[in-house]
Amino acid sequence: MQRQPYVKRPRSRLSYQVAYALRHPGKVWPHLRRMTRDARLRLTTADHVSYYREVMRADIAEMDADAAIGSHGRESWLRIGKLQFDYLVRHGLTPRDRVLDIGCGNLRLGWRLIDHLEPGHYHGIDISPEILLAAADTVAQRGLQSRLPHLTLVNDLTFGFLPDAHFTVVHAHSVFSHSPIEVIDECLRHVGRVLHPDGFFDFTFDRTEKAEHHVLREDFYYRTETLVRLAERYGLKARFMDDWERSRHRQSKLRVTH
Ligand SMILES: C[S@@+](CC[C@H](N)C(=O)[O-])C[C@H]1O[C@@H](n2cnc3c(N)ncnc32)[C@H](O)[C@@H]1O
Repeated sequence: MQRQPYVKRPRSRLSYQVAYALRHPGKVWPHLRRMTRDARLRLTTADHVSYYREVMRADIAEMDADAAIGSHGRESWLRIGKLQFDYLVRHGLTPRDRVLDIGCGNLRLGWRLIDHLEPGHYHGIDISPEILLAAADTVAQRGLQSRLPHLTLVNDLTFGFLPDAHFTVVHAHSVFSHSPIEVIDECLRHVGRVLHPDGFFDFTFDRTEKAEHHVLREDFYYRTETLVRLAERYGLKARFMDDWERSRHRQSKLRVTH
């Protein structure tokens, strides 16, 4: 596919950044440290997945697994996981569903799914070995061993090791917000094969109404129509989930079906 250019927004202008720094002086030093670290990681890694894997490794070492997936504190970890889980249940999730959790992290949502679904019906995949070790700890801490969750380290989103038409629910929360368009393209190109004919694939993304852009190649902002068109290219239909907006989560959600 053609790469889409990321257009600079005012926030990448020096004048904007100086004004922002004056308004939030406490954020300047952490941001400079993150910029330096990310520049080093970009120089020492070959592609986005290896780069982001190193970002995760560094975040887990510097903070902890909860913070590395964006929850600074257990209260937030529990709340955001419950928000995702309750939404799926409201949309008809039953124990018989077979769920693929892309970018499962340390099972903020996953542990609730593992508990709810029939044994063996939960598959979590992630690019970070460290976060998958934390995920295994979550399974043990929550006493969910007998639910037989599958946790797999992946290098890409081609799903080559998974069966055709198997998953009734595919889910990616706060993963495409960290993904360049090539990664999303790869996922949409392949997800139709593993998605059950009546299943759906929900993913969240950082939505912008203005120019698409990224911050340090860690956070990516897309227009809805870009992602809808990408899904269409692979014969899939994507629908904007208005009811998710009411959850007041800062990301938006699209639902992809056959
Ligand atoms: C912000 S965390 C969200 C974790 C989980 N979905 C949740 O909501 O609790 C993003 C996770 O996606 C993983 N990730 C990022 N890019 C990925 C990719 N291309 N394929 C699979 N996992 C990815 C990261 O390692 C991280 O664990």
